[in-house]
Amino acid sequence: MRETGPDAGAEAGPEAGADAGSAGKRPLGVGMVGYAFMGAAHSQGWRTVGRVFDLPVEPVLAAVCGRDGGAVRAAADRLGWAAAETDWRALIARDDIDLVDICTPGDSHAEIAVAALEAGKHVLCEKPLANTVEEAEAMAEAAERARARGQVAMVGFNYRRVPALALARRMVAEGRLGALRHVRLTYLQDWLVDAGFPLTWRLIKEHAGSGALGDLGAHIVDLAQYLVGERVAGVSALTETFVRERPLLEGASSGLTAAGGARRGAVTVDDAAVFTGRFPNGALASFEATRFAAGRKNALRLELNGSDGSLAFDLERLNELSFHDHTEPAASSGFRRILVTEPEHPYLAAWWPPGHGLGYEHTFVHQARDLLHAIATGTRPEPSFADGLSVQRVLAAVEESAAKNSVYTPVTA
Ligand SMILES: NC(=O)c1ccc[n+]([C@@H]2O[C@H](COP(=O)([O-])OP(=O)(O)OC[C@H]3O[C@@H](n4cnc5c(N)ncnc54)[C@H](O)[C@@H]3O)[C@@H](O)[C@H]2O)c1
Repeated sequence: MRETGPDAGAEAGPEAGADAGSAGKRPLGVGMVGYAFMGAAHSQGWRTVGRVFDLPVEPVLAAVCGRDGGAVRAAADRLGWAAAETDWRALIARDDIDLVDICTPGDSHAEIAVAALEAGKHVLCEKPLANTVEEAEAMAEAAERARARGQVAMVGFNYRRVPALALARRMVAEGRLGALRHVRLTYLQDWLVDAGFPLTWRLIKEHAGSGALGDLGAHIVDLAQYLVGERVAGVSALTETFVRERPLLEGASSGLTAAGGARRGAVTVDDAAVFTGRFPNGALASFEATRFAAGRKNALRLELNGSDGSLAFDLERLNELSFHDHTEPAASSGFRRILVTEPEHPYLAAWWPPGHGLGYEHTFVHQARDLLHAIATGTRPEPSFADGLSVQRVLAAVEESAAKNSVYTPVTA
């Protein structure tokens, strides 16, 4: 599979610029820190991207880093990395690495990202950008300094790369919805309903920064800002921790898989966050992030209502976008399903024939593609570290509002 049509480059990434073709490709060494859930997903992206998209540079899976020597070597073999390191500083120092891809918990993002940028490397960092606004500010400042040297830094808000959501952004920007009135987003999972699920790093503030808020809320805040094209101005929030103690973790956890023992420890983050917000353009927003919605596995759902129409999306049916055109005659108008698999849709020209849908993993291929184009063209990738910082500021305002029992709290720049 190759992008072939004249529009293939532009269609493959709304902000990415044209493909340069395969001539004169130079290798670009990638070094990845962390090799569990996101490490596997990013590896899939790096392995696949050059086999689907015509790229201006050739990503090389140079080395992966973890703290356990045996485990990281096994992960390197399994995921396709040429070498293994046990210290991220050694990874950054390698001459064969141009780009550092950070797939660790939030407590290490700032230190690794700033060190990598200062060492002259490009950076891709998983979301949320950091655990605090102060860390995110330091990262955004380091990214700005690095930008002057021709380096790029991007945050892994991969859902921007779901073709249906990139199409939604395009339709909003084209004015198909008219003036936006409501932006409604929920991100619902259920893996914490079981009170016996152990205390992994995601439930400890020191490691994760916050709970459902930073894990899931960060995604929907970023998506809302991306789709609206503006930043949230202020919020009123409630957060809750439903299960306050859990079994201590036994052994290593990976993603959402973990085993607990008999001893127990305190949950120090929120289990759920519900908040409303305002955009400067007058649109109202509502957000809900929870890991306690029994039966909902990865239900990132959104609806946008404008003066001329509405859009609706559900990540559990990610090849579809629902659109209601309110300018059509009432007698025949209504929500219709757009099957987002046409070559005219974002990213789709490079993939399968219409109707042969994509999945979760493809967002990481698109993310890699867009980042490589930004590196080759010297353009600022989106979402940038500045975008990640703006999300962090919303998360901080949510926590401040919730601590004051939902007092409206402006998002401070
Ligand atoms: N974009 C998404 O959809 C998405 C989904 C899940 C997680 N995430 C984000 O990805 C990041 C990682 O989450 P995960 O689910 O992959 O976690 P995980 O627990 O599955 O994996 C974390 C990895 O980091 C390694 N690690 C931790 N500290 C380290 C250190 N100091 N040096 C080297 N390696 C270290 C662990 O050994 C492990 O390999 C988090 O920021 C999380 O919020 C994003």
